[in-house]
Amino acid sequence: MSVGSAPDFAVEIHDLTHVFDDPAAGGDVTALRDITLHVSEGEFVSLLGPSGCGKSTILNLIAGFLLPTRGVVKVQGKAVIGPGPDRGVCFQEAALFPWLCILDNVLFGPRAQKRDVSPEQAVDLLQRLGLAAFRAHYPHQLSGGMKQRAAIARLLINDPPILLMDEPFAALDALTRLQVQDHLLNIHEEFRRTVVFVTHDIDEAVYTSDRIVMMSARPGRIVDEIIVDEPRPRRREFITSAHFIDYKKAALSMLSHEA
Ligand SMILES: Nc1ncnc2c1ncn2[C@@H]1O[C@H](COP(=O)(O)OP(=O)(O)O)[C@@H](O)[C@H]1O
Ligand SMILES: [Mg+2]
Repeated sequence: MSVGSAPDFAVEIHDLTHVFDDPAAGGDVTALRDITLHVSEGEFVSLLGPSGCGKSTILNLIAGFLLPTRGVVKVQGKAVIGPGPDRGVCFQEAALFPWLCILDNVLFGPRAQKRDVSPEQAVDLLQRLGLAAFRAHYPHQLSGGMKQRAAIARLLINDPPILLMDEPFAALDALTRLQVQDHLLNIHEEFRRTVVFVTHDIDEAVYTSDRIVMMSARPGRIVDEIIVDEPRPRRREFITSAHFIDYKKAALSMLSHEA
């Protein structure tokens, strides 16, 4: 890469090993071993693997909540030394303030950072996520899917170039989950942010991703990847297509070899 040019990748992980000190487990726990992963600008990559294989740990390392035991994590060409506004993080449980209405929840971050975001911009974003009519409601008045969409709006209002999502839809029922996936994909289509998405749901990974990175059980290693070479915007018909079944079979067979 020449000096001054744009970084080649949004996220680069080189030869990363991560060890937790866990006295309750009798000492060191190697959660991740020899991880090398490159994510391109605008790419939607899923990390798929069994529970405990280190998916959340990878996301936490990219987010800067953890620093690697060995190896390097870079975001837009710079080594990660802590959290930053270039990365937005979203977890399984929607993190909303119960005492604020949905609009104020969305505006909380920009106000705290004294960033100039108008209520109209926030309403516009809520509109895209199908929540504009609920802007004056409080979190307890919303369904799980709505809360999760509100949490995505909170994330997107900060316009981070990289979205890190840790099983964000795992707590939702099947139908709601499909709807929220489509909302996320529409937004991805429009803004083309880089997404690193953790899931243990094979269908969700195939439907949403450009690429699925397959991980082994602990110590988590990357064992293979699947390029989902399907046009965007993704359509629901994709799910019942022969292509979809082929991708799913490939993922299942890789996971069953590694289980
Ligand atoms: N803070 C921690 N201290 C000790 N061990 C941890 C800690 N966080 C995660 N681990 C261990 O590291 C491994 C990977 O965890 P995690 O990244 O949460 O997996 P996943 O998200 O794939 O389910 C697991 O064995 C887990 O018990
Ligand atoms: Mg996890």
